[in-house]
Amino acid sequence: MENFQYHNPTKLIFGRGQLEALKTEIPQYGKRILLVYGGGSVKRTGLYDRVMTILNEMGAHVEELGGVEPNPRLTTVNKGIKLIKENKLDFILAVGGGSVIDCSKAIAAGAKYEGDVWDIVMKKHVPTSATPIGTVLTLAATGSEMNGGAVITNWEDNDKRSFGSIHTYPRFSVLDPELTYSVPRDQTVYGIVDIMSHVFEQYFHTTENAPLQDRIGESILRTMMETAPKLLDNLESYEHREVMLLNGTFALNGTLSMGVKTDWATHMMEHAVSAVYDIPHGGGLAILFPHWMAYVAEQKPEKVAQLGVRVFDIEAKGKPLEEVAKETIRSLREFWTSIGAPVSLADYDITDDQLDLMAERAMVRETIGGYVPLEKEDVKTILRNAL
Ligand code: NZQ
Ligand code: ZN
Repeated sequence: MENFQYHNPTKLIFGRGQLEALKTEIPQYGKRILLVYGGGSVKRTGLYDRVMTILNEMGAHVEELGGVEPNPRLTTVNKGIKLIKENKLDFILAVGGGSVIDCSKAIAAGAKYEGDVWDIVMKKHVPTSATPIGTVLTLAATGSEMNGGAVITNWEDNDKRSFGSIHTYPRFSVLDPELTYSVPRDQTVYGIVDIMSHVFEQYFHTTENAPLQDRIGESILRTMMETAPKLLDNLESYEHREVMLLNGTFALNGTLSMGVKTDWATHMMEHAVSAVYDIPHGGGLAILFPHWMAYVAEQKPEKVAQLGVRVFDIEAKGKPLEEVAKETIRSLREFWTSIGAPVSLADYDITDDQLDLMAERAMVRETIGGYVPLEKEDVKTILRNAL
């Protein structure tokens, strides 16, 4: 293993009826609140009213930033920063999915910085503080509820970038499975794909002697594959929603990356695709991951084969590693297709028109990916294979 430090300050508040915890958590941070939410689901489900009742009861002053886009935009982040600075707000309550939480994190860091918040997203400025955030999660997918990362889109420049800071970890996150009942089928599928992809990004490492990290990742994958079909049969099952919710948090709260050098090339590629075409994150990953795996398996089939044997129950006896790796990728594709995930970029009407721009945007460093470092030409090939 590599040396590592692990520090996750987010308090997880999990289970039925836990929204009530806002009453004791928020007053620890202040009464002047920025309430951040998305395009309308919280109003349709009544969650907005429930949160407002709690905030009013505590005598809070509330400013609102609604309409946060899926793939949240820099322009929206700037609106939030303005609200905080003009109204001297001291706490951000994010009620929504990963986009709302990420937007809130960028607002939190930007509110304490005199310069342009894009400097923070581009890692040109390292935040030294942030307005405290709490979250009420409504969609299991990103893990943003228990990590310090945020992904923001600069739509004018077709750029989607991530940053992370210890200061932007939520102080607390409320995870009530019932609040995810209303997540539609397609978004539920994207969430499943995203959670599994987070495991893959950390499972594909070259660090030796990390058996526990691998086994935890495999457990998350197997649990997801057992739960997904049952959940999709009954979107309002508490039992399956709670399993998915906890899996989503565990897949990206730092547990799997302890002591290993992770990959993340597929996320870089997906962020580039959604920066140009604004597609759902999980949809993009479902298309790209099998192509990435096939590409790297040509050089390093070992870990793909291990995944196949341990998670997809592939019989490896007497077969070359390359063959086992191919069967693994076929099984993954079959599973994702069986739950209704997209298969090719053409599903989103994406052609080879902007291939070069997407590859350019994916290259946030000279090479991307830890398992097999990729150059721009490699990325272009993978994107072309996914068309
Ligand atoms: O906007 P509203 O109306 O709320 O609707 C949202 C949105 O349309 C809807 N939704 C959320 N909760 C719902 C619901 N609809 C009904 N009932 C509910 N309970 O779902 C749609 C998608 O929401 P969004 O927040 O965009 O989804 P997700 O949580 O998948 O977040 C995606 C964003 O997170 C980034 C992605 O790149 C993308 O920008 N990521 C963030 C990460 C992180 N911070 O750690 C890591 C990830 O890999 C990812 O890159
Ligand atoms: Zn993701």
